[in-house]
Amino acid sequence: MRTIMVLNAKGGCGKSTIATNLASYYAAEMGQNVVIADFDPQGSSLAWLEERGEYRAPIKGIAAHSQPLRVPKDTDVVIMDVPARVHGKELTQILRKVETIIFPVLPSPVDMRAATGFMEEVMKNNRVINKEIKIGVVANRVRENTLIYFDLFNFIKKMKLPYITTFRDTQNYIHAEKRGVGIFEMPRSMVHQDLKSWEPLTRWLRSKRSLPQAIAS
Ligand SMILES: Nc1ncnc2c1ncn2[C@@H]1O[C@H](COP(=O)(O)OP(=O)(O)O)[C@@H](O)[C@H]1O
Ligand SMILES: [Mg+2]
Repeated sequence: MRTIMVLNAKGGCGKSTIATNLASYYAAEMGQNVVIADFDPQGSSLAWLEERGEYRAPIKGIAAHSQPLRVPKDTDVVIMDVPARVHGKELTQILRKVETIIFPVLPSPVDMRAATGFMEEVMKNNRVINKEIKIGVVANRVRENTLIYFDLFNFIKKMKLPYITTFRDTQNYIHAEKRGVGIFEMPRSMVHQDLKSWEPLTRWLRSKRSLPQAIAS
């Protein structure tokens, strides 16, 4: 069973958006049994799931903030949507459950500053030190050729973590969010560019590069 977590210290950087789109990818594109575990009491991922039509590829939701994370035996992928401001013991606890982390960052000075401090804390975690967890960085809501876009790339370079891909700022994610789908389930002509930007992420997730050494070897 694959366990993937979307994590960052700040709200609004796209954790739930990436978690739900990833769930849509595994369920609708790959035909896998997907659980989305929402650790956020705000429950954005579960709210998204409620909008999802019954005729869609099924995704199981678990309110992991209020109940134990028990997934069905035949689950292929668990996607964990984690709230902002998880630190200390709570962070250690949550990192016990995962093998791959997607770390979204926004091109905003406030977000980059918060991400730096938080990533320092994550890098001190024993499982991260021992490479039992792999981390990849995703730039989100990027408008190309803006000044801050260049700052973001310098920032990501300095983080010394694998940079995976960039998602542009587009209403497509808002449309998807409202309808309980991912961009993978929207008309191709509308989301062509966005699907392309997801390819490096889904490729990374399918590859050994995103897996802990012990599992990958
Ligand atoms: N790439 C994007 N383009 C446009 N809007 C986005 C993008 N990523 C996220 N959003 C929007 O930004 C808002 C916050 O994103 P969300 O995924 O809920 O953040 P978080 O879970 O980190 O708090 C949502 O309304 C979402 O639709
Ligand atoms: Mg969220």
